[in-house]
Amino acid sequence: PVPASLSAMRVLVAGGAGYIGSHTVLALLAAGHDVVVVDSFANAKPAVVGRLEELSGLPIPVHRFDLTDAERTDALFEAEHFDAVIHFAGLKAVGESVAKPALYYRNNVDSTLSLVEAMARHDVRRFVFSSSATVYGEKAPVPYREDWEYLESTNPYGQTKVMIERILTDVAAVNPAWRVALLRYFNPVGAHASGRIGEDPSGIPNNLMPFLSQVAVGRRERLTVHGDDYPTADGTGERDYIHVEDLATGHVAALDHLDAMSTPVRAFNLGTGTGTSVLALLRAFERAVGRELPYTVGPRRDGDLPASYADPTRAHVELGWRATRTIDDMCADSWRWQSQNPTGYPEA
Ligand code: NAD
Ligand code: WQD
Repeated sequence: PVPASLSAMRVLVAGGAGYIGSHTVLALLAAGHDVVVVDSFANAKPAVVGRLEELSGLPIPVHRFDLTDAERTDALFEAEHFDAVIHFAGLKAVGESVAKPALYYRNNVDSTLSLVEAMARHDVRRFVFSSSATVYGEKAPVPYREDWEYLESTNPYGQTKVMIERILTDVAAVNPAWRVALLRYFNPVGAHASGRIGEDPSGIPNNLMPFLSQVAVGRRERLTVHGDDYPTADGTGERDYIHVEDLATGHVAALDHLDAMSTPVRAFNLGTGTGTSVLALLRAFERAVGRELPYTVGPRRDGDLPASYADPTRAHVELGWRATRTIDDMCADSWRWQSQNPTGYPEA
């Protein structure tokens, strides 16, 4: 159970119909906050809203528009009062961002600017942003620490995160009333324990966990392991997988901590601190499913790092938050969602 927040806030959740946003909506409601969602549904299915209402027992107000539209964004703040904004709304496919960089810069940067400008105009200063471990680039040593200063990313998607962190830092520098948490997620996986909400990628999944789930449910023939000659324990890439429900409570913790933050802007890693290899995740998923899954080993994937994992100390010390769910929990919950919803959410 999520402990009740000390002071209930009315929170605008931008991108709240998406994978991480939908789980966070439930955690916010469980903590006693009021939630309003804005989402373009560019990468979400309307059916998620009914599932959230079913799970929470509460009506969830949803505004459907594109946040790059600054006028619509401002009109929402004119019409309604918010105490804080949590900003998940963005495009996130790394490969697509390489093919369509302008789309990614336009969508991710402009949606942030619309929000920040509307917030400033309506004196809303609490902001929680979905950043990513990708901002540590190729040169930072693992485990990644927030005080690493040279932020860069190997792809346009990641560069939008670097740029947005910069923009938010500059905005807060001129008006220290801002309270901005930059949450750098590691590899979110898993699903709500009910099996009613989860990750529903369109097309062929790029990420390991949804690909594995689709192999298990029979939608893909076999997993291709992208390289087994990395300088890691078993030669396959190591990542810091974090259960999406732990990530969701991390947002509640960050929101509750904003007013007590020592500086207007602060970055926090949201990870477990442990790297898990591709083969170890495959084995854990097989345990969840109860049978072996087919795979082959292919070449390395362009742009992949050997290992990426967090030093999660700052979030623990300052937010009082830590991830508690294990790799087996993550696989069991991903599998429950995938097996109960083999083709994802129903079409409207
Ligand atoms: P998601 O695609 O499921 O959710 C993003 C939501 O934002 C979607 O519902 C989409 O329709 C909406 N959206 C996108 N552009 C919009 C716009 N211009 N206006 C209004 N709505 C818009 O992705 P997610 O996995 O839930 O990720 C949420 C955030 O966390 C993203 O910003 C992502 O970059 C970041 N992040 C994700 C991961 C990951 O691996 N999933 C890792 C690190 C950071
Ligand atoms: C994990 C491991 C792959 C698929 C990406 C983005 C990152 C972040 C999260 C948002 C790697 C291997 C994968 C497959 C495989 N997003 N793999 N076969 O690359 O760590 O992170 O998503 O910020 O920016 O880059 O996650 O799940 O794609 O890969 O062997 O079919 O699984 O090589 O070692 P990644 P991933």
